[in-house]
Amino acid sequence: MVLVTGGAGYIGSHTCVELLKNGYDIVVVDNLINSHPKAIERVKRLAGKDFLFYEMDVCCETSLDTICNKHKIDCVIHFAGLKAVGESVAIPIAYYENNIVSTLALLKTMKKHGIRNIIFSSSATVYSGENTMPLTEDSLLGCTNPYGWTKYMNEQIISDAVAAETKMSAVLLRYFNPIGAHESGLIGEDPRGIPNNLLPFLAQLAAGKHEELSVYGDDYDTIDGTGVRDYIHVCDLAAGHVAAIKFCQSAKGTHAFNLGTGQGTSVLEMVNVFEKVSNVKIPYTIAPRRPGDLAASYADPTKAEKLLNWRTKKSLIEALTDTWRWQTNNPNGY
Ligand code: NAD
Ligand code: WQD
Repeated sequence: MVLVTGGAGYIGSHTCVELLKNGYDIVVVDNLINSHPKAIERVKRLAGKDFLFYEMDVCCETSLDTICNKHKIDCVIHFAGLKAVGESVAIPIAYYENNIVSTLALLKTMKKHGIRNIIFSSSATVYSGENTMPLTEDSLLGCTNPYGWTKYMNEQIISDAVAAETKMSAVLLRYFNPIGAHESGLIGEDPRGIPNNLLPFLAQLAAGKHEELSVYGDDYDTIDGTGVRDYIHVCDLAAGHVAAIKFCQSAKGTHAFNLGTGQGTSVLEMVNVFEKVSNVKIPYTIAPRRPGDLAASYADPTKAEKLLNWRTKKSLIEALTDTWRWQTNNPNGY
């Protein structure tokens, strides 16, 4: 049985479908602070399987203890966390408290119940801006905002906890830029308020919800001057978690993996492809660089390919087509 924290969220819900389709039994916990209960219903519908969902805060050790008394958990996938970079600068204490205390509560519960395997949602944001591309797992680490530091600190906390327990193992998955949605159009990314991330903003813009895109900088040292990122389809990312469970069960210690495509795409290239898949003209203006942004960030995914036997399968066009289907089928989200 796999305990999925944050399973009602964007990446968690897609991973739950993938886990169920691969025959895993799951139990999901989420306090719905950034998600909707409909996501859980739709995961059940898509997978054609039922599972238990607990609406609870992962920071609450007592609730975790109750769940682990009820279910025989072998592995934890820890998605739960707050994830907005700008918000983390405005309310850093809330970010440190939520993202660190939840991990501590989970690790304590795991120790108490003899649960040996943990897969943690880390981020490419743990890499310093000083690196050359592509980023390998050995690239220099360092963050520029509290959100990023919570990922960095959680990686350290998990690896120290695992080092102290001979039978434990952890996989730290450093996601690049997750995009796309399940091809059914039933589950997808449902941001609250005006999206900060490029793709959900583009999708809402094409749907008529915004006037124009601000392209943050066109004077970077990149193919067309705009920022370059490694956009990975959320279903490829979900499959990476199934591969990580298999690896975790036979490995010992802590292992970090980049989950990305290895391909960089610029903002203007994204605009161009999105116009093609949606058949909508995207108006944009060039705005100043966004503070904290890097010119380029893309993965060397070789380690995950070799050790997890995982690689991305879906193209950028598929990802943007799936995003557009999700947006048009669910104009107001869930
Ligand atoms: P999301 O906000 O859609 O999902 C996170 C889920 O965790 C939400 O459903 C939220 O309600 C829940 N949650 C938050 N705090 C909780 C708590 N204390 N107790 C219980 N539930 C709680 O985000 P996502 O995009 O699915 O991201 C999942 C994980 O991956 C996060 O840890 C995020 O930091 C990480 N990540 C995301 C991205 C990205 O761009 N989406 C990139 C790298 C890493
Ligand atoms: C992508 C590119 C922008 C919006 C963030 C977090 C990171 C990770 C993923 C969790 C950049 C440009 C964007 C817009 C634009 N999350 N852009 N106009 O910044 O790579 O990563 O989400 O771990 O931690 O920092 O993603 O989608 O915000 O930006 O020009 O309105 O699009 O400058 O080049 P980012 P993003």
